[in-house]
Amino acid sequence: MALPDDVREAFDAWESARGLLLLRRGLGDTVAGWFDTARPALLRERLGRPVRALPGRGESAVYAAGGRTFVVKRCRHGGLLRPLTGDRFLRGGRFVEEVALTLRMARAGIATPAVVALALTRRWHGLLLAHLVTEEIPDARDLWNFVTAPENGPESRAGRARRREAIRAAGRVVRAFHDAGFYHADLNLRNLLAREGDPARALIIDVAGSRQRAAPLAEAERIDNLARLNRSLDKLCHTSGAAVPRADLLRFLSAYHRAGADAGATTPPLRHLAAAAAAGYTRLRRLLW
Ligand SMILES: Nc1ncnc2c1ncn2[C@@H]1O[C@H](COP(=O)(O)OP(=O)(O)OP(=O)(O)O)[C@@H](O)[C@H]1O
Ligand SMILES: [Mg+2]
Repeated sequence: MALPDDVREAFDAWESARGLLLLRRGLGDTVAGWFDTARPALLRERLGRPVRALPGRGESAVYAAGGRTFVVKRCRHGGLLRPLTGDRFLRGGRFVEEVALTLRMARAGIATPAVVALALTRRWHGLLLAHLVTEEIPDARDLWNFVTAPENGPESRAGRARRREAIRAAGRVVRAFHDAGFYHADLNLRNLLAREGDPARALIIDVAGSRQRAAPLAEAERIDNLARLNRSLDKLCHTSGAAVPRADLLRFLSAYHRAGADAGATTPPLRHLAAAAAAGYTRLRRLLW
């Protein structure tokens, strides 16, 4: 498989007809013992017991090695394909591309956990199994979890402040992501991380399938991406019965609006964004096109 130059520079690679292993130079040594470089494969029996489980589909957990902690994720299909194909993939290119995207994000100053290793293992019928290892952000929880946590609720002044800070930080990091030309294929509240100890700095995760344009994202794509985020909020509120005040949405949008660092970037007018929050995707499209 042709590896992008930036991946080749940052990772040691073992490739054979049976798979591909990428280990991050400098960081990868710590977890090298988890892998069989000859197969190449992640050997689950070498992981030991997880330090903690993670929310989500249960395919990710935190493991320790060399006094550090890492998130090990067994990648699975999303959406309709999942019941059919589960964790088997035809091609591994999207995972290599995901690794490349995280490197480019870091270069653009957009916080995302560093990828430490990727193992693609060819199984029966030629299908691939993919394991992705990232550094753990120890005090992080996803934004949905963060804003609905009782300790970040409106009752205490400190909780309120933390929650507002995290929402603004999310607005800023998504803005920086768009300004750098990235479009997130699955922008939702569970793919934004907020830090309990440092809510002013949010992270973006799960960039598989995302794209980077040569220029800052065009307005229509920004709105499209933000509308997707808004739909995910609607869905989470609907399925959980929890409510997120409109003020939080406006806070996010206003942080997004104000954070533009790149003078050349197009800024969607705040009233469009507010309309997106207020009216949802369908009405928004009608407003813009
Ligand atoms: N590097 C990390 N550090 C700390 N927590 C993380 C990290 N990566 C993921 N998490 C947490 O684990 C949860 C599950 O993440 P993950 O993306 O691995 O699985 P998923 O969301 O179920 O899968 P996908 O989004 O790819 O469909 C995240 O919402 C987040 O709370
Ligand atoms: Mg996710």
